[in-house]
Amino acid sequence: MGRVFVAGSINMDVVATAERHPRVGETVAGSAVLYFPGGKGANQAVAAAKLGAPTTLIGRLGKDAFGEQLRTFLAAQGVDLSFVKDTPEAHTGTAIITVADADNTIVVVPGANALVDADDVAMPVLAKGDIAVSQFEIPQAAITAFFRSARAAGATTVLNPAPARKFDGELLDLVDILVLNETELGLLTGRELRDSDDYTRFIDAAHSLAGSDRIICVTLGKRGVLALVKDEPLIVAGREVKAIDTTGAGDCFVGALASQLAGGNNSRDALGYANAVASICVQRMGAAPSMPTAAEVANILNT
Ligand code: RIB
Repeated sequence: MGRVFVAGSINMDVVATAERHPRVGETVAGSAVLYFPGGKGANQAVAAAKLGAPTTLIGRLGKDAFGEQLRTFLAAQGVDLSFVKDTPEAHTGTAIITVADADNTIVVVPGANALVDADDVAMPVLAKGDIAVSQFEIPQAAITAFFRSARAAGATTVLNPAPARKFDGELLDLVDILVLNETELGLLTGRELRDSDDYTRFIDAAHSLAGSDRIICVTLGKRGVLALVKDEPLIVAGREVKAIDTTGAGDCFVGALASQLAGGNNSRDALGYANAVASICVQRMGAAPSMPTAAEVANILNT
């Protein structure tokens, strides 16, 4: 079995729940303040580890109370933290999140995540069959260095370009699997896309990023997933569930996909499995704590 290496962000999510989101300039009364481990990198690593893949996280924490709590939580989920550095010169990454009506708004203050560099990602030694995963809450130079050494080792690279940001062709050339939502796809391809659009619009946009062998995987919330695998469109229908908090659902999908690929499953089966895993995540509050175990996934797949 291959291993999963995630180079990415680690945040404490400070979550306020409310009946509805405030408009700009408006104050609304909330109902609760909750603290959840999060950060796209950490969420993806927890998802992969809880599904049984040997998983290593590469990143940085501040030397503060949030950093200590996150380290304890992540270790308890089975994530290898040998390459997570304590960084005295910056605070632990923090996300301020409002959850209302199952939807969220997020402001991320990167802190220590912004200091992840090429030396950090050079330390773990990857091998053929491993899966290297990253997203856009750490500097792009570090991601490029990480994917370059992963490729050289024969590992498969998975990029989740979130939060949405344009990136250069050098990085795209190093990506084997691109996982993104309709907003990110729209930004990268210069189109206005909505999750309700006709599939042909997504297929058309995805084609422009596909390259020769690259898999493009567009997550469409409750509609499921549309992927281009060897240039052939593949649609995995969403599962009907009652979502209460979608924070971290995309990360859950990415971590689950990586765990399945590390286990030797083909991309089509891995996509179907990851779609089911994410449907469990949205039924729970919080990001990293809402990632399900392999037994929970087996349970819904058998019913
Ligand atoms: O994708 C969800 C994550 O985005 C949250 O956990 C938050 O920390 C932000 O990074």
